[in-house]
Amino acid sequence: DSGCFTYDPGFTSTASCESKITYIDGDKGILLYRGYPIDQLAENCTFLETAYLLLYGELPKAEQYEGLKERITKHTMVHEQMNRFYTGFRRDAHPMAVMVGVVGALSAFYHDSIDIKDPRQREMASIRMIAKMPTIAAMAYKYSVGQPFVYPKNDLDYSANFLRMCFAVPCEEYQVDPVLARAMRRIFILHADHEQNASTSTVRLAGSSGANPFACISAGIACLWGPAHGGANEAALTMLEEIGSVDRIPEYIKRAKDKNDSFRLMGFGHRVYKNYDPRAKIMQKTCHEVLDAVGHHDDPILKVAMELERIALSDDYFVQKKLYPNIDFYSGITLKALGFPTDMFTVLFAIARTVGWIAQWMEMIEDPSQRIGRPRQLYTGAPERAYVPVEAR
Ligand code: SDX
Repeated sequence: DSGCFTYDPGFTSTASCESKITYIDGDKGILLYRGYPIDQLAENCTFLETAYLLLYGELPKAEQYEGLKERITKHTMVHEQMNRFYTGFRRDAHPMAVMVGVVGALSAFYHDSIDIKDPRQREMASIRMIAKMPTIAAMAYKYSVGQPFVYPKNDLDYSANFLRMCFAVPCEEYQVDPVLARAMRRIFILHADHEQNASTSTVRLAGSSGANPFACISAGIACLWGPAHGGANEAALTMLEEIGSVDRIPEYIKRAKDKNDSFRLMGFGHRVYKNYDPRAKIMQKTCHEVLDAVGHHDDPILKVAMELERIALSDDYFVQKKLYPNIDFYSGITLKALGFPTDMFTVLFAIARTVGWIAQWMEMIEDPSQRIGRPRQLYTGAPERAYVPVEAR
């Protein structure tokens, strides 16, 4: 037992560690951040209010909220020299590749935030990471479309600032649409934390060795990129667009059920939820709001998604295997309607999940019993044997 990852022969994977941050009941489809239901937070909180809750365990009082907002606002810019990192990438580099590189490079700039034994440096690194993720992500997007970087504005909130850094251009004023900003805020809240998922476990394992927080978050971004995890939002929209129309759905349902076909319904199924992912319901509602706001309420891809969900949820295969839509099923349609290209979808996931990664990393680092993670294995290889010279093999 390394204090976090304990191998228990009764489980097919490393059992999770103790945490006070997020609770999931996969059978009932319940998700709580520090005891608060996700739908109440998504409806009523700002993203930084939710961040405060995840980081410090309680909803902030007014002065605590203002204090966090002020600390984050002061650190949204990145060191000007970091701009040069972007020019080292190909224009068509996947933005997640850029995020892994640039976030890891933060430890080369902020030497006052990498000594994890110093609580002040840990707090500084946490604030800097949460504050700079939207800026770094927006710069990756701007670089990919050949437009100039847009600096953050201190009078905008977290979500509105991000939208403006992505979509403003120097030639004209950019007004953030409040409906889209509210949708962005809700999407960030839904993605903020999710117990010991693959990328959070990656951040905890990397952090357990004493690696600096920027390097740990970079490792989390790399893991999130996988299509079985955070990359599923990009894969789900690609799948829905490939299906294209409701009459082609039965063909894909058949493929998803065929054991000899590696095709999976992207945005369906979950390691923990054996019921409807509560985030997916909120995401579907947000999807309708955004499509209405941008005038795409009759988006044919939404019709495909809703019909695919209806058919799958009435199909014995999916019912017996308890496969339901997860957060990624409707997020792709929503993010595309917000104006993002598909390769930015997982980047948005990473911005939000940085709060959860940091909260989980802090919880681990501050646990006095914490030791380096060392998952064990069941050895199934060859028994001990003597060396055989090549001429005798
Ligand atoms: C995220 O862990 C987290 O919390 C992650 C996340 C977070 O917030 O951090 O929630 C974010 O990653 C959500 C999941 C996004 N991924 C996808 O949507 C990709 C598509 N989904 C599948 O790849 C799959 O459902 C997984 C990877 C999510 C889970 O895979 P498992 O662990 O194999 O699922 P399972 O054990 O419940 O599968 C039961 C059966 C299996 O068949 P059998 O071996 O029993 O014959 O259902 C099958 C699976 O092969 N199955 C599917 C399927 N998902 C599982 N069949 C068709 N389509 C699917 N999507």
